[in-house]
Amino acid sequence: MKQYRITTLNEFIIRRQANIPYAKGELSRLLHHIGIAAKVVNKKVNKAGLVDVLGTAGKENVQGEIQQKLDVFADMQFTTALKDSGECCGIASEENQEIITFDDELANDGKYIVTMDPLDGSTNIDVNVSIGTIFSIYKRISPRGHKAELRDFLQSGNRQIAAGYVIYGSSTMLVYTTGRGVNGFTLDPAIGEFCLSHPDIITPEQGRIYSLNEGNYTNFPEGLKQYIKYCQEKDEATHRPKKARYIGSLVADFHRNLLKGGIFIYPPTANSPNGKLRLLYECNPIAFLAEQANGKASDGKNRILDIVPQNLHQRVPFFTGSRIMVERAEQFMKDHS
Ligand code: AHG
Ligand code: MN
Ligand code: MN
Repeated sequence: MKQYRITTLNEFIIRRQANIPYAKGELSRLLHHIGIAAKVVNKKVNKAGLVDVLGTAGKENVQGEIQQKLDVFADMQFTTALKDSGECCGIASEENQEIITFDDELANDGKYIVTMDPLDGSTNIDVNVSIGTIFSIYKRISPRGHKAELRDFLQSGNRQIAAGYVIYGSSTMLVYTTGRGVNGFTLDPAIGEFCLSHPDIITPEQGRIYSLNEGNYTNFPEGLKQYIKYCQEKDEATHRPKKARYIGSLVADFHRNLLKGGIFIYPPTANSPNGKLRLLYECNPIAFLAEQANGKASDGKNRILDIVPQNLHQRVPFFTGSRIMVERAEQFMKDHS
């Protein structure tokens, strides 16, 4: 019988760490704890139809949206795991207006801060559609030994140390980067481990999928309307129109396009000139992954990773995916601005 060599997430992290001289294992420990929280949340997501986790928790988050129960659960699990790692001095989460600082001796000495969207695509929970968790890791700027400060979180995306997402889909995967390529791990439920299944992910430079909420079409900028028309026409290479695919979970839409080639757009609209998605814990981590996989991410004009954040929950228009598609969309936006 053929023997397959399995590489677990933890083995992979440790092996990577060994390649970095002077690495003390702090980031590895942090990633390890994120992996643990992902498994706990995954269990809960799987049981969503069985136990009382569906529906709203009755509280509104800072965006004025009603939180689902799983949002609260995921937020709690990841927050606890990050605190327990001892390497993280504070977090910013979609679910909390302000930063959370873990103000004890161990945490204050932590070198990293984390931003996260604990449950992305939450409106899809009760209809059995893929959802996700997004995270981003930075080195703090403020001195170690003290509480984390707001300025630790308002760093531009090009300073990310690591970023990734967990997708709770037909299988559960953790995909992350530390700036040396993108690797994907699939959770094997039989052994309860994330196993390396998608090493060195590279996204096709040209794709056939375009993903955006066309329900907002009348409020789209003219350049985007023209780009959509272009996608719907037969292209020169394949003589076929592109395919429209939109799940409504950023993680799931991005993940599909990453593997198959495509573009994801959450554009500016007449009512929301900055779009909907949040820079710190949605766009920056996804942009880091996109670039590490040879793709691109912009706000329609400028590189996402170069934007200097002004506040924790700021929104930004988002164009990401296959390089040639993003560049073409940017060109349409420019030509009609
Ligand atoms: P969240 O569930 O964290 O609030 O995020 C939902 C986001 C994102 O996942 C998705 O791409 C987008 O909202 C969908 O928005 P529309 O329903 O406006 O298309
Ligand atoms: Mn989200
Ligand atoms: Mn969310």
